[in-house]
Amino acid sequence: MILLTGASGLVGRALLSRLAENAVPVRCLVRDPRRLGAQRVNVQIALGDLADPPSFRNAMRGVDTVIHVAAAIRDQPQGSIEELAAIATWRMVDAARRAGVARFVFFSALGASTQSRSRFLRAKALAEAAVRDSELATMVFAPSIIYAPGDPFLSLLERQARLPAVMPVMGSGRAAYQPIWVEDVADCVIAALGRPGSNDQRYELAGPQTLTYEEIVALVLESRGRRRHVVHVPTPVVLRSLKLLERLAGERAFATADEAELMEVPLLSEHGTRDAESLGVRPRPMREVLAAH
Ligand SMILES: NC(=O)c1ccc[n+]([C@@H]2O[C@H](COP(=O)([O-])OP(=O)(O)OC[C@H]3O[C@@H](n4cnc5c(N)ncnc54)[C@H](OP(=O)(O)O)[C@@H]3O)[C@@H](O)[C@H]2O)c1
Repeated sequence: MILLTGASGLVGRALLSRLAENAVPVRCLVRDPRRLGAQRVNVQIALGDLADPPSFRNAMRGVDTVIHVAAAIRDQPQGSIEELAAIATWRMVDAARRAGVARFVFFSALGASTQSRSRFLRAKALAEAAVRDSELATMVFAPSIIYAPGDPFLSLLERQARLPAVMPVMGSGRAAYQPIWVEDVADCVIAALGRPGSNDQRYELAGPQTLTYEEIVALVLESRGRRRHVVHVPTPVVLRSLKLLERLAGERAFATADEAELMEVPLLSEHGTRDAESLGVRPRPMREVLAAH
C-alpha cells in the first residue's frame, strides 16, 4: 500500500492517475476528498492535515511506501509555511518510522537551501535534511518549476495577459528556470519507484530549456497569440501591494508576497535533463507542450 499526500495538487493528480492505471493500492491523505475528483472512488481516503500530526499515524497503517508530495507555499490559518513544509515533513518521517514504513519518497525543490531568501526554499531544505537523516530508505525529487497548461501559475499569467496592451513583470524578470511538464515529472517518479537501486537517490528534475521568468511570460503570450508590451514593476512595490492584498483578502488573495518572492529565485540544475533521462524520461520543451495544448 502506498500513502500519497498532496494527491489533489498538480503533481499528486498526475501521479495518482498513473498509480490507478497500474492498479496499485493507494491511500490518500487529504483535507477534503472532493478535491480528488473522480479518482476518490479508486483510493482509500485518510482524512488528515499537514498541521495535524496525529492524522499521519492513522494514515500509515499497513503502508510500505510514503510519497510525500503535499506542501504549502503560502501560510495557512492552520500553520505557517515553516510548519507545513518543514516541521510536518519531519513529523511525517517520524510517523513513517514508527509505523514500520520501508520507503519514504519526498518532493523537495531545486534551490532548497537554509541560506535562501525564500521562506519556502529554506523550509524545503530543512525538510530534505529530515528525510535524508532518517533511517528509512528514501528517494528525493528536487524539481525546477513544474507546469501544466491551465495550472494556477500559467492561468495567472494568462489572466494578466488579458490586460490591455501591457504585461506586468515583477522586478527584472531575469531569474532563470528549467520548467518541467508535470506529466514528465510523474513519469520520472513512477520509473524510479519500479527501479532497483533508486533508494537513497536524489533526482533533480529539470526541463530541456533554460528560461528566465520574462521568457516564460513571452512563451505564454506567444502560445495565446497575444502581443503585449512588458512593463517591469519594481519588486518592493509588488511585495508591498501583495502584503496589503493578503491582509484584505486573506486566503482568497490571488498571489502572496512569498509566492512572488519565489519568482525572483533561480531554480536550476547543473544536471540539466540527465536525471530524468537516467529514468528513461526525455522531458519535453515548454514551447512544444504549450503549443500542443
Ligand atoms: N509546482 C512547482 O513548480 C514546484 C516546484 C518545486 C517544488 N515543488 C514541490 O513539489 C510538490 C508538488 O507540488 P504541486 O505543484 O503539485 O503543489 P500543489 O499543486 O500546490 O499541491 C499541493 C498539495 O498539497 C496539499 N496540501 C496543502 N496544504 C495542506 C495541508 N495543510 N494538509 C494536507 N495537504 C495539504 C494540497 O491539498 P488541497 O487540495 O487540500 O489544497 C495539494 O494536494 C510540492 O512539495 C512542492 O513544494 C513544486
